Amino acid sequence: MAKLSAAVLSLCVVLAFLAGQSAAGRYYSDKVQDKVRKEVEKAMAYNPGLGAALVRLVFHDCWINGCDGSVLLDKTPTDGTNTEKKAVTNIGLAGFEVIDTIKQKVGANTSCADILVFAGRDAADILSGGKIFYKLDGGLKDGVVSSAAAADANLPESTFDFTDLQNNFAASGRGFTVKELVALSGAHSIGVAHLSSYQDRLAADATPIDSDYQLALNKTTPLELLKKGQNPTVPNNPRDASAAFQKDAAYDPVTLGVSPTRNVLDNSYYHNNLENKVLFKSDWVLRTDGVAAGKLQDYKDNAAMWNSDFAAAMAKLSGLPPQGKNLEIRKNCRFTNQQYYY
Ligand code: HEM
Repeated sequence: MAKLSAAVLSLCVVLAFLAGQSAAGRYYSDKVQDKVRKEVEKAMAYNPGLGAALVRLVFHDCWINGCDGSVLLDKTPTDGTNTEKKAVTNIGLAGFEVIDTIKQKVGANTSCADILVFAGRDAADILSGGKIFYKLDGGLKDGVVSSAAAADANLPESTFDFTDLQNNFAASGRGFTVKELVALSGAHSIGVAHLSSYQDRLAADATPIDSDYQLALNKTTPLELLKKGQNPTVPNNPRDASAAFQKDAAYDPVTLGVSPTRNVLDNSYYHNNLENKVLFKSDWVLRTDGVAAGKLQDYKDNAAMWNSDFAAAMAKLSGLPPQGKNLEIRKNCRFTNQQYYY
Protein backbone atom coordinates (compact mmCIF):
# COMPACT_ATOMS: atom_id res chain seq x y z
CA MET A 1 0.00 0.00 0.00
CA ALA A 2 2.79 2.36 1.02
CA LYS A 3 4.59 1.46 -2.24
CA LEU A 4 1.44 2.21 -4.25
CA SER A 5 0.93 5.63 -2.65
CA ALA A 6 4.58 6.46 -3.32
CA ALA A 7 4.11 5.51 -6.99
CA VAL A 8 0.92 7.60 -7.24
CA LEU A 9 2.71 10.50 -5.60
CA SER A 10 5.65 10.32 -8.05
CA LEU A 11 3.21 10.16 -10.97
CA CYS A 12 1.46 13.29 -9.65
CA VAL A 13 4.81 15.10 -9.39
CA VAL A 14 5.69 14.15 -12.98
CA LEU A 15 2.24 15.21 -14.24
CA ALA A 16 2.44 18.50 -12.33
CA PHE A 17 5.84 19.14 -13.92
CA LEU A 18 4.62 18.28 -17.41
CA ALA A 19 1.59 20.54 -16.95
CA GLY A 20 3.96 23.50 -17.03
CA GLN A 21 5.94 22.38 -20.08
CA SER A 22 5.13 22.25 -23.77
CA ALA A 23 7.15 20.43 -26.41
CA ALA A 24 9.03 23.64 -27.18
CA GLY A 25 9.18 24.82 -23.60
CA ARG A 26 6.89 26.04 -20.88
CA TYR A 27 3.27 27.04 -21.15
CA TYR A 28 1.01 28.98 -18.87
CA SER A 29 -2.68 28.92 -18.10
CA ASP A 30 -2.76 32.39 -19.59
CA LYS A 31 -3.09 33.13 -23.31
CA VAL A 32 -1.01 36.32 -23.21
CA GLN A 33 1.92 34.67 -21.43
CA ASP A 34 1.72 31.74 -23.84
CA LYS A 35 1.97 34.10 -26.81
CA VAL A 36 4.92 35.92 -25.27
CA ARG A 37 6.63 32.60 -24.64
CA LYS A 38 6.14 31.44 -28.22
CA GLU A 39 7.56 34.65 -29.69
CA VAL A 40 10.55 34.64 -27.33
CA GLU A 41 11.33 31.04 -28.29
CA LYS A 42 11.09 31.96 -31.98
CA ALA A 43 13.25 35.07 -31.62
CA MET A 44 15.94 33.25 -29.63
CA ALA A 45 16.00 30.37 -32.10
CA TYR A 46 16.66 32.93 -34.85
CA ASN A 47 19.16 34.98 -32.81
CA PRO A 48 20.35 33.45 -29.51
CA GLY A 49 21.90 36.78 -28.44
CA LEU A 50 18.40 38.20 -27.99
CA GLY A 51 17.94 36.19 -24.80
CA ALA A 52 20.60 38.20 -22.94
CA ALA A 53 19.19 41.42 -24.39
CA LEU A 54 15.71 40.60 -23.04
CA VAL A 55 17.04 39.83 -19.56
CA ARG A 56 18.96 43.12 -19.50
CA LEU A 57 15.89 45.05 -20.69
CA VAL A 58 14.06 44.07 -17.48
CA PHE A 59 16.81 45.60 -15.36
CA HIS A 60 17.10 48.76 -17.44
CA ASP A 61 13.35 49.34 -17.61
CA CYS A 62 12.42 48.54 -14.02
CA TRP A 63 15.35 50.51 -12.51
CA ILE A 64 14.00 53.80 -13.87
CA ASN A 65 10.58 54.75 -12.42
CA GLY A 66 9.65 51.11 -11.94
CA CYS A 67 8.56 48.63 -14.61
CA ASP A 68 6.67 50.98 -16.91
CA GLY A 69 8.00 50.18 -20.38
CA SER A 70 9.77 53.60 -20.41
CA VAL A 71 12.90 52.06 -21.93
CA LEU A 72 10.89 51.13 -25.03
CA LEU A 73 9.80 54.67 -25.96
CA ASP A 74 11.23 56.39 -29.05
CA LYS A 75 9.71 59.74 -28.08
CA THR A 76 7.41 61.28 -25.52
CA PRO A 77 5.50 64.58 -25.23
CA THR A 78 7.88 65.83 -22.50
CA ASP A 79 11.25 64.29 -23.49
CA GLY A 80 11.08 64.53 -27.27
CA THR A 81 13.34 61.91 -28.78
CA ASN A 82 15.88 62.16 -25.96
CA THR A 83 14.48 59.03 -24.34
CA GLU A 84 16.16 56.36 -22.20
CA LYS A 85 17.40 54.57 -25.31
CA LYS A 86 19.83 57.48 -25.83
CA ALA A 87 21.43 57.10 -22.39
CA VAL A 88 25.16 56.26 -22.39
CA THR A 89 24.52 53.46 -19.87
CA ASN A 90 21.99 51.96 -22.27
CA ILE A 91 24.67 51.20 -24.86
CA GLY A 92 23.97 47.95 -26.68
CA LEU A 93 20.37 47.65 -25.46
CA ALA A 94 18.44 45.42 -27.87
CA GLY A 95 15.34 43.28 -28.22
CA PHE A 96 12.96 46.13 -29.06
CA GLU A 97 11.72 44.48 -32.26
CA VAL A 98 10.85 41.30 -30.35
CA ILE A 99 8.71 43.36 -27.95
CA ASP A 100 7.06 45.11 -30.96
CA THR A 101 6.23 41.74 -32.55
CA ILE A 102 4.78 40.42 -29.30
CA LYS A 103 2.70 43.58 -28.86
CA GLN A 104 1.17 43.01 -32.30
CA LYS A 105 0.25 39.45 -31.29
CA VAL A 106 -1.17 40.17 -27.83
CA GLY A 107 -3.13 43.29 -28.75
CA ALA A 108 -4.39 46.37 -27.01
CA ASN A 109 -5.13 45.07 -23.52
CA THR A 110 -1.62 44.04 -22.46
CA SER A 111 0.84 46.71 -21.38
CA CYS A 112 4.30 46.95 -22.90
CA ALA A 113 5.70 46.75 -19.36
CA ASP A 114 4.01 43.36 -18.85
CA ILE A 115 5.30 42.09 -22.19
CA LEU A 116 8.83 43.19 -21.30
CA VAL A 117 8.94 41.43 -17.92
CA PHE A 118 7.26 38.28 -19.28
CA ALA A 119 9.76 38.17 -22.15
CA GLY A 120 12.76 38.62 -19.80
CA ARG A 121 11.43 35.86 -17.57
CA ASP A 122 11.04 33.47 -20.51
CA ALA A 123 14.51 34.33 -21.82
CA ALA A 124 16.03 33.53 -18.41
CA ASP A 125 14.08 30.27 -18.28
CA ILE A 126 15.26 29.23 -21.75
CA LEU A 127 18.88 30.31 -21.21
CA SER A 128 19.06 28.37 -17.96
CA GLY A 129 17.52 25.22 -19.43
CA GLY A 130 14.46 25.63 -17.20
CA LYS A 131 16.45 26.01 -13.97
CA ILE A 132 15.55 29.66 -13.46
CA PHE A 133 11.85 30.30 -13.37
CA TYR A 134 9.48 32.58 -11.52
CA LYS A 135 5.80 33.36 -11.74
CA LEU A 136 4.59 36.82 -12.73
CA ASP A 137 1.01 38.02 -12.45
CA GLY A 138 0.98 40.92 -14.90
CA GLY A 139 -1.11 44.04 -14.45
CA LEU A 140 1.70 46.61 -14.86
CA LYS A 141 0.86 49.86 -16.69
CA ASP A 142 2.93 51.88 -19.16
CA GLY A 143 4.48 55.24 -18.33
CA VAL A 144 4.54 58.35 -20.52
CA VAL A 145 7.97 59.73 -19.65
CA SER A 146 11.40 58.45 -20.66
CA SER A 147 14.51 60.54 -20.11
CA ALA A 148 18.06 59.71 -21.15
CA ALA A 149 19.39 61.92 -18.34
CA ALA A 150 17.27 60.08 -15.74
CA ALA A 151 18.53 56.73 -17.02
CA ASP A 152 22.16 57.85 -16.80
CA ALA A 153 21.59 59.27 -13.34
CA ASN A 154 20.05 56.04 -12.05
CA LEU A 155 21.60 53.07 -13.82
CA PRO A 156 24.81 51.75 -12.23
CA GLU A 157 28.03 52.25 -14.16
CA SER A 158 30.61 49.58 -14.83
CA THR A 159 33.23 51.75 -13.08
CA PHE A 160 31.27 51.98 -9.82
CA ASP A 161 32.97 50.91 -6.63
CA PHE A 162 31.21 48.69 -4.10
CA THR A 163 29.62 51.50 -2.06
CA ASP A 164 28.22 53.12 -5.23
CA LEU A 165 26.65 49.80 -6.20
CA GLN A 166 25.28 49.12 -2.74
CA ASN A 167 23.68 52.60 -2.55
CA ASN A 168 22.32 52.34 -6.07
CA PHE A 169 20.63 49.02 -5.31
CA ALA A 170 19.34 50.11 -1.89
CA ALA A 171 17.91 53.42 -3.20
CA SER A 172 14.32 54.28 -2.36
CA GLY A 173 11.80 52.80 -4.75
CA ARG A 174 14.15 49.81 -5.25
CA GLY A 175 15.32 48.46 -1.91
CA PHE A 176 17.67 45.74 -3.14
CA THR A 177 20.07 44.15 -0.66
CA VAL A 178 23.74 43.29 -1.14
CA LYS A 179 22.72 39.65 -1.46
CA GLU A 180 20.34 40.58 -4.29
CA LEU A 181 23.03 42.75 -5.91
CA VAL A 182 25.39 39.78 -5.95
CA ALA A 183 22.66 37.39 -7.18
CA LEU A 184 21.58 39.69 -10.02
CA SER A 185 25.16 40.38 -11.11
CA GLY A 186 25.30 36.72 -12.09
CA ALA A 187 23.35 37.79 -15.20
CA HIS A 188 26.78 38.67 -16.56
CA SER A 189 27.28 34.97 -17.29
CA ILE A 190 25.52 35.77 -20.59
CA GLY A 191 25.67 38.40 -23.29
CA VAL A 192 28.24 40.81 -24.56
CA ALA A 193 29.82 44.17 -23.75
CA HIS A 194 31.34 46.96 -25.80
CA LEU A 195 34.99 47.92 -25.42
CA SER A 196 33.99 51.35 -24.09
CA SER A 197 32.25 49.62 -21.17
CA TYR A 198 35.36 47.77 -19.96
CA GLN A 199 38.17 49.99 -21.26
CA ASP A 200 39.35 50.79 -17.71
CA ARG A 201 40.09 47.08 -17.25
CA LEU A 202 42.68 47.07 -20.03
CA ALA A 203 44.98 49.61 -18.36
CA ALA A 204 48.07 48.68 -16.38
CA ASP A 205 46.53 50.18 -13.21
CA ALA A 206 43.14 48.43 -13.62
CA THR A 207 41.26 47.02 -10.64
CA PRO A 208 42.58 43.48 -10.16
CA ILE A 209 42.11 41.37 -13.26
CA ASP A 210 43.80 38.11 -14.16
CA SER A 211 46.85 38.96 -16.29
CA ASP A 212 46.18 36.30 -18.96
CA TYR A 213 42.57 37.38 -19.26
CA GLN A 214 43.62 41.02 -19.52
CA LEU A 215 46.17 40.08 -22.18
CA ALA A 216 43.52 38.26 -24.22
CA LEU A 217 41.20 41.26 -23.99
CA ASN A 218 43.97 43.65 -25.05
CA LYS A 219 44.82 41.36 -27.94
CA THR A 220 41.25 41.01 -29.30
CA THR A 221 40.04 44.53 -28.56
CA PRO A 222 43.00 46.90 -28.12
CA LEU A 223 42.18 50.32 -26.66
CA GLU A 224 43.40 52.07 -29.84
CA LEU A 225 40.24 50.85 -31.59
CA LEU A 226 38.23 53.39 -29.61
CA LYS A 227 40.40 56.21 -30.99
CA LYS A 228 39.69 54.90 -34.50
CA GLY A 229 35.97 55.18 -33.78
CA GLN A 230 35.48 51.43 -33.39
CA ASN A 231 33.72 49.90 -30.41
CA PRO A 232 33.71 46.09 -30.78
CA THR A 233 32.15 43.67 -28.34
CA VAL A 234 33.41 40.64 -26.45
CA PRO A 235 31.36 38.06 -24.54
CA ASN A 236 30.80 38.95 -20.87
CA ASN A 237 31.76 35.38 -20.02
CA PRO A 238 35.13 34.08 -21.26
CA ARG A 239 33.35 30.72 -21.55
CA ASP A 240 31.47 32.15 -24.55
CA ALA A 241 34.66 33.38 -26.24
CA SER A 242 36.55 31.69 -29.09
CA ALA A 243 38.97 28.85 -28.43
CA ALA A 244 41.86 31.19 -29.32
CA PHE A 245 40.70 33.77 -26.78
CA GLN A 246 40.31 31.10 -24.11
CA LYS A 247 43.82 29.85 -24.79
CA ASP A 248 45.28 33.36 -24.41
CA ALA A 249 43.18 33.94 -21.31
CA ALA A 250 44.22 30.57 -19.84
CA TYR A 251 40.51 29.94 -19.43
CA ASP A 252 39.51 26.33 -19.21
CA PRO A 253 35.92 25.89 -18.01
CA VAL A 254 36.49 22.30 -17.00
CA THR A 255 39.48 23.17 -14.80
CA LEU A 256 37.40 25.97 -13.29
CA GLY A 257 34.62 23.52 -12.53
CA VAL A 258 32.01 25.08 -14.81
CA SER A 259 30.03 23.54 -17.62
CA PRO A 260 31.74 24.25 -20.99
CA THR A 261 28.38 24.80 -22.73
CA ARG A 262 28.21 28.30 -24.19
CA ASN A 263 25.40 30.87 -23.85
CA VAL A 264 23.98 29.45 -20.66
CA LEU A 265 22.67 31.44 -17.72
CA ASP A 266 24.31 29.73 -14.76
CA ASN A 267 26.62 30.31 -11.80
CA SER A 268 29.81 30.31 -13.91
CA TYR A 269 30.04 34.08 -13.24
CA TYR A 270 30.96 33.32 -9.62
CA HIS A 271 33.68 30.88 -10.61
CA ASN A 272 35.03 33.48 -13.04
CA ASN A 273 34.85 36.31 -10.52
CA LEU A 274 36.80 34.45 -7.86
CA GLU A 275 39.51 33.93 -10.52
CA ASN A 276 39.48 37.67 -11.43
CA LYS A 277 38.18 36.75 -14.89
CA VAL A 278 35.22 39.11 -15.04
CA LEU A 279 34.87 42.02 -17.42
CA PHE A 280 33.72 44.98 -15.36
CA LYS A 281 35.17 46.71 -12.33
CA SER A 282 31.59 46.58 -10.94
CA ASP A 283 31.81 42.79 -11.07
CA TRP A 284 35.22 42.58 -9.41
CA VAL A 285 34.44 45.06 -6.60
CA LEU A 286 31.92 42.58 -5.17
CA ARG A 287 35.03 40.87 -3.82
CA THR A 288 35.88 43.92 -1.71
CA ASP A 289 32.94 43.65 0.71
CA GLY A 290 32.69 40.91 3.32
CA VAL A 291 28.99 40.12 2.80
CA ALA A 292 29.20 40.30 -1.00
CA ALA A 293 32.35 38.17 -1.09
CA GLY A 294 30.62 35.57 1.08
CA LYS A 295 27.71 35.41 -1.38
CA LEU A 296 30.12 35.10 -4.34
CA GLN A 297 31.57 32.03 -2.65
CA ASP A 298 28.11 30.63 -1.76
CA TYR A 299 26.86 31.01 -5.33
CA LYS A 300 30.05 29.50 -6.72
CA ASP A 301 29.66 26.48 -4.44
CA ASN A 302 25.92 26.06 -4.77
CA ALA A 303 24.44 26.42 -8.24
CA ALA A 304 20.91 25.58 -7.07
CA MET A 305 21.02 28.30 -4.42
CA TRP A 306 22.00 30.84 -7.07
CA ASN A 307 19.27 29.69 -9.48
CA SER A 308 16.69 30.18 -6.79
CA ASP A 309 18.03 33.50 -5.42
CA PHE A 310 18.45 34.89 -8.94
CA ALA A 311 14.88 33.91 -9.81
CA ALA A 312 13.56 35.54 -6.61
CA ALA A 313 15.52 38.75 -7.26
CA MET A 314 14.32 38.87 -10.89
CA ALA A 315 10.72 38.43 -9.71
CA LYS A 316 11.19 41.31 -7.26
CA LEU A 317 12.77 43.43 -10.01
CA SER A 318 9.94 42.60 -12.43
CA GLY A 319 7.38 43.70 -9.85
CA LEU A 320 8.76 47.20 -9.14
CA PRO A 321 5.59 49.27 -9.62
CA PRO A 322 5.44 52.06 -12.22
CA GLN A 323 5.94 55.40 -10.45
CA GLY A 324 4.45 57.88 -12.93
CA LYS A 325 1.10 59.63 -12.38
CA ASN A 326 -0.19 59.28 -15.92
CA LEU A 327 -0.19 55.60 -16.70
CA GLU A 328 -1.81 53.87 -19.66
CA ILE A 329 -1.70 50.74 -21.77
CA ARG A 330 0.14 51.79 -24.89
CA LYS A 331 -1.12 50.96 -28.36
CA ASN A 332 2.44 50.90 -29.65
CA CYS A 333 5.36 50.27 -27.30
CA ARG A 334 7.48 52.98 -28.95
CA PHE A 335 5.02 55.86 -28.48
CA THR A 336 2.73 57.19 -25.78
CA ASN A 337 -0.93 56.99 -26.80
CA GLN A 338 -1.04 60.79 -27.11
CA GLN A 339 1.66 60.67 -29.80
CA TYR A 340 0.57 57.53 -31.58
CA TYR A 341 -1.53 57.84 -34.70
CA TYR A 342 -2.84 54.99 -36.78
C1 HEM B 1 25.36 45.68 -10.84
C2 HEM B 1 25.40 46.65 -11.69
C3 HEM B 1 25.50 46.45 -13.17
C4 HEM B 1 26.35 47.09 -14.00
C5 HEM B 1 27.34 48.17 -13.63
C6 HEM B 1 26.12 46.55 -15.32
C7 HEM B 1 26.79 46.96 -16.45
C8 HEM B 1 26.68 46.36 -17.68
C9 HEM B 1 27.41 46.77 -18.85
C10 HEM B 1 28.38 47.93 -18.91
C11 HEM B 1 27.08 45.92 -19.85
C12 HEM B 1 27.63 45.93 -21.28
C13 HEM B 1 26.91 46.95 -22.13
C14 HEM B 1 27.60 47.10 -23.46
O1 HEM B 1 28.72 47.57 -23.47
O2 HEM B 1 27.01 46.72 -24.49
C15 HEM B 1 26.15 44.96 -19.32
C16 HEM B 1 25.62 43.91 -20.05
C17 HEM B 1 24.65 43.09 -19.55
N1 HEM B 1 24.06 43.18 -18.31
FE1 HEM B 1 24.63 44.35 -16.77
N2 HEM B 1 25.17 45.59 -15.25
C18 HEM B 1 24.74 45.50 -13.96
C19 HEM B 1 23.74 44.68 -13.49
C20 HEM B 1 22.98 43.87 -14.28
C21 HEM B 1 21.77 43.21 -13.87
C22 HEM B 1 21.13 43.38 -12.50
C23 HEM B 1 21.34 42.47 -14.93
C24 HEM B 1 20.12 41.61 -15.08
C25 HEM B 1 19.31 41.31 -14.15
C26 HEM B 1 22.28 42.65 -15.99
C27 HEM B 1 22.24 41.99 -17.18
C28 HEM B 1 23.12 42.21 -18.23
C29 HEM B 1 23.11 41.42 -19.44
C30 HEM B 1 22.23 40.21 -19.72
C31 HEM B 1 24.07 41.98 -20.27
C32 HEM B 1 24.40 41.52 -21.70
C33 HEM B 1 23.39 42.17 -22.65
C34 HEM B 1 23.47 41.73 -24.10
O3 HEM B 1 24.32 40.93 -24.46
O4 HEM B 1 22.65 42.22 -24.90
N3 HEM B 1 23.25 43.52 -15.58
N4 HEM B 1 25.91 45.27 -18.00
